[in-house]
Amino acid sequence: MSEAPGLFADGKAYERMMGRWSRLAGDVFLDWLDLPKGLRWLDVGCGNGAFTEALIARGGPAEVTGIDPSEGQLAYARTRPGAKSAQFRVADAQSLPFADGSFDAAVMALVISFVPDPAKAAGEMARVVRPGGCVATYMWDIPGGGLPLEPIHKAMHSLGIALPTPPGFAISRQDKMRAIWEQAGLQSVEARVIRITIAYSGFDDFWDSNAVPVGPAGQAISKLAPAAREQLKAHLRQQLPAGPEGRISYEAFANAVKGRVPAA
Ligand SMILES: C[S@@+](CC[C@H](N)C(=O)[O-])C[C@H]1O[C@@H](n2cnc3c(N)ncnc32)[C@H](O)[C@@H]1O
Repeated sequence: MSEAPGLFADGKAYERMMGRWSRLAGDVFLDWLDLPKGLRWLDVGCGNGAFTEALIARGGPAEVTGIDPSEGQLAYARTRPGAKSAQFRVADAQSLPFADGSFDAAVMALVISFVPDPAKAAGEMARVVRPGGCVATYMWDIPGGGLPLEPIHKAMHSLGIALPTPPGFAISRQDKMRAIWEQAGLQSVEARVIRITIAYSGFDDFWDSNAVPVGPAGQAISKLAPAAREQLKAHLRQQLPAGPEGRISYEAFANAVKGRVPAA
């Protein structure tokens, strides 16, 4: 559908690299949406179900449907005890296999930068949500330096190591996401920044979580020659802020946007 082969295909590795941060940001996002319980939700690009689980625990939904192009991610999502009540199926955000007005709310957590045509995805989400329902998304502010993997991006940049960034990375700016929502015809559009603390027990936890070829940075690391990989590792070990007992913590931040489908 949209991405480099193998990107986000491993649900277990994704959980350690990103799922835990997705849940933390997802909780803040869901509190901000402030929607009543008992709704029919669509989780677009649900991946391995990290956000789906937060949605079920916090949102008290009547039903949740999760869609994602990656069967590998969905296979992991189906094993989550906290997501047993959700229905998962393979589909693309740009062509949702649902009738108009099928849901009360549609959300897209950490996905918009990976969708080739984000405006089409927003239009599709608006179509499948009933009039008056909610359409919302959040994405790490990649151009602003808000990605949990930002230390790796910075280190690669300063060592002159190429990191292929998908064109959609610029979409994660708040003004861009707001414009896409407005162009999709959504009303009462609001945006905010979500800030969370990223915390690792030590450097090995940081490196082993992120140097796996599951996301764009991990894939680039896996292609490095052994000497370049060691150089990057040594650089990061030196640069990362180490607290008591070697613990590492820093802030990540995402932009969120929400709007309402116009009343019929
Ligand atoms: C960073 S992961 C986010 C997963 C999950 N929503 C979360 O919060 O952890 C990005 C997800 O977007 C999915 N994705 C990529 N292109 C997509 C598309 N065209 N339609 C729907 N999902 C897509 C990927 O398969 C991947 O699971």
